Amino acid sequence: MAILLDDDRATLHGGDALVVLPTLPAGSVDLVLTDPPYNSGGRTQSDRTKVSARDKYVSGDAQHQLADFVGDNRDQRAYTAWLALVLAHCLRASRPGASLLVFSDWRQLPATSDALQAGGWLWRGIVPWHKPISRPRAGGFKAECEYLLWGSNGPIDATRNPVYLPGLYSASQPRGAARRHITEKPVSLLAELAQVCVPGGMVLDPFAGSGSTGVAALSTGRRFVGVELSEHYQQVAVDRLREAAGSAWVASGPGPSVAS
Ligand SMILES: C[S@@+](CC[C@H](N)C(=O)[O-])C[C@H]1O[C@@H](n2cnc3c(N)ncnc32)[C@H](O)[C@@H]1O
Repeated sequence: MAILLDDDRATLHGGDALVVLPTLPAGSVDLVLTDPPYNSGGRTQSDRTKVSARDKYVSGDAQHQLADFVGDNRDQRAYTAWLALVLAHCLRASRPGASLLVFSDWRQLPATSDALQAGGWLWRGIVPWHKPISRPRAGGFKAECEYLLWGSNGPIDATRNPVYLPGLYSASQPRGAARRHITEKPVSLLAELAQVCVPGGMVLDPFAGSGSTGVAALSTGRRFVGVELSEHYQQVAVDRLREAAGSAWVASGPGPSVAS
């Protein structure tokens, strides 16, 4: 476990979420906004436990060689139990009234809602994310949406952040050269979602990937703490976070420290 980026506004921990989360100060987080490895894809247990994330989530004709990522081989019951543990640690790190937004696909919706509730969060609803460009399916319906399950750490004090937010978002996934991670989420979407966090508040993403949540947090005037296990994606996230903070860090001093 190492702190790869350490600044007043953004911290990135390299390591396993279950090791790092217990070290975060209790009650320090205002929003958990996270995109865990879905442990989805494949139709059989053997598909799920053997196939790489790349093989599951990247179509055969995709023109890129993005790095694979780790932690995507659990079967469904293991996924539910593991995610519940992670979300329980997130709850401890969150202040009363903080929100949780956790991404899921259709297949893992039941497991994710079980994990959210088992982790101690109050389940508040589902926010669909509509992806305008998605693959058609012969003989049936497109899987045109992913979902955000919304929970809170007990009652929400709406006077702290009096916002009225939509219940449906539409945004395209990064494509081509702009894409850095196999399952990268659009910063524009994450920036909209970050509105549920009080301005200046702390956003936690225990599965930071390429750092998209952190970029959205910084660009909307929130702070960020993230965790990422893959060394490749740790470096991608550090570079993006430094760039997102840009001139503000330069103006405020020597800037964040980055492990070599
Ligand atoms: C779905 S991706 C997140 C992508 C991210 N939203 C983005 O836009 O780049 C999930 C990430 O969690 C990381 N991961 C998997 N298991 C982990 C663990 N136990 N602790 C921390 N990170 C983990 C993977 O390496 C992967 O980069």
